[in-house]
Amino acid sequence: MKNMLIAQSGGPTAAINASLSGAVQEAIRSREIDRVYGALNGIQGILKRTIIDLKSQFSRQEDFFALECTPAMALGSCRFRLPDPESAEGRALFENILETFRLYDIGYFFYIGGNDSMDTVYKLSLFFQEVGEDIRVMGIPKTIDNDLPLTDHTPGFGSAAKFISTAMLEIIRDCNVYDTHSVTIVEIMGRHAGWLTAAAALPRTVGARAPQLIYLPEVPFDPEQFLKDVAEVQKITQNCIVAVSEGVRLANGSFVAEDFQSGLVDAFGHRYLSGVGKYLENLVRDRIGCKVRSIELNVLQRCSSHLMSATDLNEARRIGSHAVRHALAGDTGRVMVMERVSNRPYLINIGLGDVSRIANREQLVPREWINKAGNDVTGEMFEYLLPLIEGEVAYPTLNGMPQHFLLNTELAPPPGRE
Ligand code: F6P
Repeated sequence: MKNMLIAQSGGPTAAINASLSGAVQEAIRSREIDRVYGALNGIQGILKRTIIDLKSQFSRQEDFFALECTPAMALGSCRFRLPDPESAEGRALFENILETFRLYDIGYFFYIGGNDSMDTVYKLSLFFQEVGEDIRVMGIPKTIDNDLPLTDHTPGFGSAAKFISTAMLEIIRDCNVYDTHSVTIVEIMGRHAGWLTAAAALPRTVGARAPQLIYLPEVPFDPEQFLKDVAEVQKITQNCIVAVSEGVRLANGSFVAEDFQSGLVDAFGHRYLSGVGKYLENLVRDRIGCKVRSIELNVLQRCSSHLMSATDLNEARRIGSHAVRHALAGDTGRVMVMERVSNRPYLINIGLGDVSRIANREQLVPREWINKAGNDVTGEMFEYLLPLIEGEVAYPTLNGMPQHFLLNTELAPPPGRE
């Protein structure tokens, strides 16, 4: 019997702990896995040997459900890129990881993360094969951005999309009470891909007439054209509501809100975005001169456990448990993916993809799913999105608030040294 290690990486989602729960439950059921460990703060926790025991933390089935309903990584996260194993620095880090795996007698490693984190899965699986270690490494996808190739969609996206569409619906109600001209700009996450911003269109499927304008990063953004678009909308209605992605860029490729940003980048080289809503708010104030407000949904869209999609949560759990089954069956260097079988009824198959085909790659919104003018989405987007936000979750509460499940982060000594 070998032990299992699991870690989480990248940006938080509301459903990422459901994948952790699914994997841990499957491991506990298995007769081939003995101890179940978690590394704190992703791969950095393995390098620092901040490893905790997970099995002892779940005494009742309800604990797993409470974990699933807790947003953001229960194990903590990191944005850390493993260097090339051939480099001197890389060799030392990979040797360090191998030593830790040997010390904890790890036979199975699961990494829950986005496209950058799948680079870690890829490099580690190759390294273990090269040094002849039977350590199986599997990727469990997650990201609110929904930008992973190979899979129909990514766990975590559906819940973020449900939050965005619901928040937008409520914003629409609020913005329509006064009999004056106004512009409301809602800034939505998604660095390079517009899937999340597209979800802001969903209120139109329940009778709302807004947002009238939607700008995704897939189409170059022209501030002058934006002002013309707003003016056109204002000929028809008093209240113009705009959904804009944090990642919209000018035709020259620079981010629209470049001057509003700190210029800082994370370990993956990604710029910290946000500020485009404020930029457009100032533009409308200066050039159109009506009442204008910008709303940045910011982290609320990825950690709102009170508004999770039941579809998303169930898929995240299933994908975690399937990853363990596949590793036990001998797979390594693979990533779990979802294939959509049908929309009505909504059916998906969970399968396996080659992790090298996901690592560091992005799946953008197809140009045909954005209208010609580049300021709205087309009907295909609604068909695609609607099933993903279906279903509510009866999460546990305490004092009228969601009751979250926190892990005990006391470090676990290696087996045999307890
Ligand atoms: O993980 C994706 C994401 O949520 C993006 O949508 C966003 O731009 C980024 O993470 C923010 O990352 P951080 O929380 O590290 O600033």
